[in-house]
Amino acid sequence: MNSPHALEALKASIERMPDPAGRSEAAALEAELATVHGVRHAIAVSSGTAALHTAMIACGIGPGDEVLLPAATVIMTVAAVTATGAHPVFVDTAANGRGMDLADAAAKTTERTRAIVPVHLAGRTDGLLELAAYAQSAHLRVVEDACQAQGSRTHGRTAGTVGSIGCFSLKDGKVISCGEGGYLITDDDELAARAAAYRTHWLTPAPHAPAGSRLGMNYRLAEPLAALARYDLTGLNRALSRRREQSRLLYELVGEIPGLAAVSPEPGDAPNGYSALWRIDLDSPRDLATRLAEAGVTNSVGTYRLRAAHQHPACEYLHPAPCPRAAHAVDRMLAVTLQPQTTDTELQHLAETIRREAVTWAQSR
Ligand SMILES: Cc1ncc(COP(=O)(O)O)c(C=O)c1O
Repeated sequence: MNSPHALEALKASIERMPDPAGRSEAAALEAELATVHGVRHAIAVSSGTAALHTAMIACGIGPGDEVLLPAATVIMTVAAVTATGAHPVFVDTAANGRGMDLADAAAKTTERTRAIVPVHLAGRTDGLLELAAYAQSAHLRVVEDACQAQGSRTHGRTAGTVGSIGCFSLKDGKVISCGEGGYLITDDDELAARAAAYRTHWLTPAPHAPAGSRLGMNYRLAEPLAALARYDLTGLNRALSRRREQSRLLYELVGEIPGLAAVSPEPGDAPNGYSALWRIDLDSPRDLATRLAEAGVTNSVGTYRLRAAHQHPACEYLHPAPCPRAAHAVDRMLAVTLQPQTTDTELQHLAETIRREAVTWAQSR
């Protein structure tokens, strides 16, 4: 977001702080986000993790409760659940390698289970509608972790609007960003009131929980960051087109390589182009992802050390059950993160690097 207009928006908001007329960039951003997502409420918060935590609290999740989430997720989703005092229960990946295994989810649903959290890694919404149907039948809340999925669609519905609450990150690198930040969206007035109250030390009322009756947090989005996010939001459609075009081009430039299978979207799904996604069918796939990261190809496993949550050292104390398909899927994932400012020439260079390293890897093993 390196633009004079962004700097002007930032400067104006800093000069106005605190706004004597009580205008708030965050409140304006919320109204704009609600319109863009076609929902009744958007609540701006300080990060995607804060959005997830606030969403859980709004759903009334706390100590003694269990929350189902995919083992194939980032550690932030897990942290948001444990921050409420609830117990995260990891669900294995479906047999086709996409989304959660609903039979495993059903087997792990107990009378303490309150919610299920689909995580749209790489902007993919695999199996989301089936999962929502299962959640409804089992009386579970669906809280979508759509932090990587702004603008992704499944069967005409946008990521974040299928569940009771959708959570998004505004961290740099996300489709819409302001450096650090996040927001949640919902059509449910009560959930929105509870989320807004929790976000600011419960200074505002929610149904059956008057102002000041509960403890909350300061998860507010800083005004200058809200001003930046508002500016970036005006370019959402452009950013989505660019990312989708970039992933299309990268698939085309990489082409067919033995041991590297492009993962096409499920029928009816239109990912946002956050990442181009391949499955590595070669030996030591994590090492190849690391090698690619070292060679300049930013990717989830190699750059950000993504591993299935049940195998993450920080989750050892939870004594998670094995989720072998999730471990297999995450270890073989090559999710190349795209940035709108990356030029076509740079994409060509990325493609050449992926081809060269994958071919060398296959020959050397
Ligand atoms: C899938 C997913 N969930 C949650 C988060 C947490 O968002 P934040 O870094 O804004 O707290 C991220 C951020 O990268 C993410 O990718």
